[in-house]
Amino acid sequence: MATSLALPLAGKVAIVTASTQGIGLAISRRLAKDGARVVISSRKQGNVDKAQKQLQDEGLDVTGMVCHVGNAEDRKTLVTKTLERNGSIDILISNAAANPAMGNIFDTTEEQWTKIFDTNVKSAFFLAKEVAPHMQKKGNGNIVFVTSIGGYQPFELLGCYSVSKTALLGLVKAMAPQCAEMGIRVNGVAPGVIRTKFSAPLHTSTSIAEEVLKQVPVKRFGEPVEVAGTVSYLVSDDASYVTGETIVIAGGMQSRL
Ligand SMILES: NC(=O)c1ccc[n+]([C@@H]2O[C@H](COP(=O)([O-])OP(=O)(O)OC[C@H]3O[C@@H](n4cnc5c(N)ncnc54)[C@H](OP(=O)(O)O)[C@@H]3O)[C@@H](O)[C@H]2O)c1
Repeated sequence: MATSLALPLAGKVAIVTASTQGIGLAISRRLAKDGARVVISSRKQGNVDKAQKQLQDEGLDVTGMVCHVGNAEDRKTLVTKTLERNGSIDILISNAAANPAMGNIFDTTEEQWTKIFDTNVKSAFFLAKEVAPHMQKKGNGNIVFVTSIGGYQPFELLGCYSVSKTALLGLVKAMAPQCAEMGIRVNGVAPGVIRTKFSAPLHTSTSIAEEVLKQVPVKRFGEPVEVAGTVSYLVSDDASYVTGETIVIAGGMQSRL
């Protein structure tokens, strides 16, 4: 007997920031496979074109545009163009992050703190603020912030970045009550060390990788697709009673504040 099961995100429109490679690209692919119409973006047109073609060649309903999340005009354009093309916005995955500083925390500069907090925290909030009224109109929406295991247990050489990710854990909690009144669920995911370009310094050298994996009970790095599945769950009706939470996806790494 033939069965027809609707895809879990059929009819939904999703914006995923920083989505031309790595975790954002994997999330975009998964949400599109689950039925959503997905708008990808990043800073460089060439990267957007390449990722859009890759996903469209896989038969997925994906369009792309440039959006540097630190630029208020870009954020506004992302929202207005998504609405023009797709009619609504149901899902926002806030995935962009900057990390210009690697070293001891007392060696970081005020410029680096400004850049990291502007991109990782302030821009994330203001894009959510731009999108929320459109979700409220429908009485339904989902926002997911991509934070990090470093938000719970700071990486020694990524102090400022880690603190910015702790701030996102707070942002999820701070937004949840008002979002609930607006019909929006807001959650976070906190990946551990996932194999992407961003984390390459941690997994490309065998000696460093061995050292890092001592902290990872499952003794391997994560893959972007393993973050994507959790995000898809959080924005689906299966998570209809989940809001104000952050799910750690870190192979058992320590995750207490
Ligand atoms: N990989 C990990 O181990 C790990 C662990 C925990 C958390 N995370 C978090 O996961 C997220 C994605 O990281 P990833 O590992 O997937 O990185 P990635 O593979 O290096 O990809 C970064 C993506 O972000 C885009 N991008 C960079 N700056 C941007 C900006 N200001 N505005 C818009 N797009 C921007 C890049 O494209 P363009 O160059 O074209 O802009 C690219 O598509 C980040 O929030 C990161 O903090 C990663």
